[in-house]
Amino acid sequence: MSDLRIEGLTIALRDARGLRPIVRDVSLHVPSGTSVALVGESGAGKSMTACAVLRLLPTEQAVITGGRIEFDGVDLLALPEEQMRTYRGAKIAMIFQEPSSALDPVLSVGAQVMEGVEAHFGRRGARERAMEAMRRVELPPEIFRRYPHQLSGGQRQRVLIASALAPGPSLLIADEPTSGLDVTVQAQIMDLLYRLQRELRMSLLLITHNLGLVAQRTETVYVMRRGEIVESGPTLDVFRAPKHPYTQTLLRMAPTL
Ligand SMILES: Nc1ncnc2c1ncn2[C@@H]1O[C@H](COP(=O)(O)OP(=O)(O)OP(=O)(O)O)[C@@H](O)[C@H]1O
Ligand SMILES: [Mg+2]
Repeated sequence: MSDLRIEGLTIALRDARGLRPIVRDVSLHVPSGTSVALVGESGAGKSMTACAVLRLLPTEQAVITGGRIEFDGVDLLALPEEQMRTYRGAKIAMIFQEPSSALDPVLSVGAQVMEGVEAHFGRRGARERAMEAMRRVELPPEIFRRYPHQLSGGQRQRVLIASALAPGPSLLIADEPTSGLDVTVQAQIMDLLYRLQRELRMSLLLITHNLGLVAQRTETVYVMRRGEIVESGPTLDVFRAPKHPYTQTLLRMAPTL
């Protein structure tokens, strides 16, 4: 089971003038084992929504002011922080949007993949689990001892995916997992995520600007604009016959579809 249900989520940013809502009444469902896309203009609130699931908002100024986030029926927003930690990484993993800052430059990548495993399962078997995750993402074993700067962008992205997968999460949230990579590597990384999602029976919440990938790889799509979901539905239905003017514009501007 790995059912994520966001209901009426509202997030506000505190500034000099008070609270300014940046995510408004967002409801979104990722049923067990499915892949769901969240798309929309830059600044729409996609990353904020995703970060809220793990209760890791990127700034102290951002506060969740309303709504519910349920994972397998558990109200995540109501959990004590200590219990929340058992969800983060272990049950729900996230690949963050800024890959360059996600890896520690002074630790070997193997050690970093192991760290996440150890945090949840202790030292025993952590190395094997980490190696297994790196094998799954098709990184050769010698990469284990290398440092982030010795890898290509695509390899670093695979390391991030390996880190996310190593603890065996049942939901993966991938926020722009291929940004900054060239198109062929983007396609390889997405193929990999797609295959792993199926093999490991994970749910996937994919945030991306690449509508081609959304069309090929996801069952349901949510379209977000200015903090709100303006349209959602089965991906092919929405792409064939978008109802909201914003979705129509978005799709018109993606000529490759
Ligand atoms: N660290 C931060 N501090 C202050 N405001 C932020 C921060 N991160 C995001 N915001 C603001 O929150 C709003 C939503 O941003 P968010 O990062 O969720 O957008 P997004 O949909 O992920 O965009 P993109 O496609 O560019 O990644 C924006 O108005 C943004 O300026
Ligand atoms: Mg973002």
